[in-house]
Order: sequence, then structure tokens, then C-alpha cells
Amino acid sequence: MQIVILKDSVEVAKYGANIFIKQLINKPNSVLGLATGSTPLSLYQCLIEANKAHHVSFKDVTTFNLDEYLGLKGSHPQSYRYFMNEKLFDHLDINKEQTFVPSGDALDPINACLDYENMILAKGGIDIQLLGIGRNGHIGFNEPSSCLMSRTRVKTLTKATIEDNARFFTLDEYQPHLSITMGIGTILDAKKVVLLATGESKSDAILATVEGALTASCPASALQFHQNVVLVIDDAAASKLSNRDFYKHIEIENQKLRAHLAQ
Ligand code: F6R
Repeated sequence: MQIVILKDSVEVAKYGANIFIKQLINKPNSVLGLATGSTPLSLYQCLIEANKAHHVSFKDVTTFNLDEYLGLKGSHPQSYRYFMNEKLFDHLDINKEQTFVPSGDALDPINACLDYENMILAKGGIDIQLLGIGRNGHIGFNEPSSCLMSRTRVKTLTKATIEDNARFFTLDEYQPHLSITMGIGTILDAKKVVLLATGESKSDAILATVEGALTASCPASALQFHQNVVLVIDDAAASKLSNRDFYKHIEIENQKLRAHLAQ
């Protein structure tokens, strides 16, 4: 695991965005795995600015989102399709027909999950997957106890996740308790994974992910198995890591090595 510890959420967003920008410069028709939630919003803003400044184009890009609420149509303001359109896709030169989010209103959700897996395969797999992390260590909506090899499927949300996400729903609005989510195995198949975490509320989950045992109790710990994963986190999210100084030291050494190789 590469662990990049930065001062604050602004630096985290810029660093994360640069990884995506470099990916798109190297491979303009990349397949991106995307996430919703509060954490990636500033990164998306950086991507929008880079696109508007013509530093990067999304016209040949395909995207697959991690998850969607089961029971919400894409036109519902709390759906993740709506979120992605509003926060990112509507502001890019992207072909929206090449942006995929699991269908929250599928008549046959089980088959919709299989179709989603097949669509990812048909596009050649995900080149780079963006992740946030839940306070309980979930990635996508793979809640604790999820199979570490799971594929896209219907998942029941924990009480903790429902409470965390209640802030997006008004009091009289229906909040789904079920979701469709890429599985942990689906995420691990991505060629590169970038996980962002900011704030003290994520520090226990980051500790369990990086220095804890590989366990379904912390789904993100499965990333210990991935060969190309980078965690971009701020000081607050890193605050409980016992080897924090060592991770910072590794990054300094890596930077020196990259500078040397670039000469
Ligand atoms: C979102 C998703 C979730 C979030 C996680 C963190 O598509 O899959 O795993 O990344 O719940 O959410 P925020 O960023 O709101 O703290």
C-alpha cells in the first residue's frame, strides 16, 4: 500500500485529482471507477476545472460508479446517478451514455448486478477506481461482514451507514435501506485503486485498513491484497496510525527517487 499523508482535505483533493489527470493524459479512453459521498467532491471540482482549462478531456472516457440506492430512480435527487450528473458529469465534455451507475429502479436487481459486472468486463475492466471509506470501514456499500471476494450484488445497509447518510435526506423523504454495490472482488480487479479519507471520523477505519488484520469486519482491509493501491489521507484521518512517520518517510524517499529518475 502506498500511503500519502497530507495536511488537509484541500491537498488530498488536489493530489487525488492529479492521479486521475495523469491517468487520462496517458490513456484518454480510460475506464474510471467513481464514488459518491462528501469526500470526492473537491477532487471532482479539480477535474472540472482541469477540463474547462483544456488540460484534460473526458470525451473518450467510460465511467462505472460503485453503488446506487435500490428503490431510487436516477431522476431522484438523492440517487447516486443524480449526484454524479449534478456534481461531475454535467460539467465535463463527457459522453453521458458512457457513464454507468447501477440501476436503482431495476425490475430484476439480481440480473442487473450480473449485467453490471458484464458491462465492466466488456469495457476491458476498470483502469482506476476511486474510493471513499465509511466510518465502519466499508468501501462502496460493502458493509462489515461482506465477502472479500464478492461481486456486484444487492446489499443491506447497516444502521450506522443509514444514519451517516441521513444528512442527505429530508425528514419526510424515503431513505432506502438496500443498495446495489460493486463487490470487493470487483473493486480488487481494478488495475489501480485510489482511496481518499479526510477527517478524524475516518481515523479508526484507516487504522483498521492499514495496520489491522485482513478481515471482513473491515472491508477496506481487503485492499492490503491489491498491488497498486494508494491511500491519500489527511493528518486527521492518519492520526491513529502507529507507523505514520514511516509512511511519510517512504513518500519523501519515493519523491527523491522519482526526481533522480527524471534527470
Ligand atoms: C459512495 C460509497 C461510500 C462512501 C463512504 C464515505 O459511493 O461507496 O463507500 O465512499 O460512505 O462517504 P463520505 O465520503 O460521504 O464520508
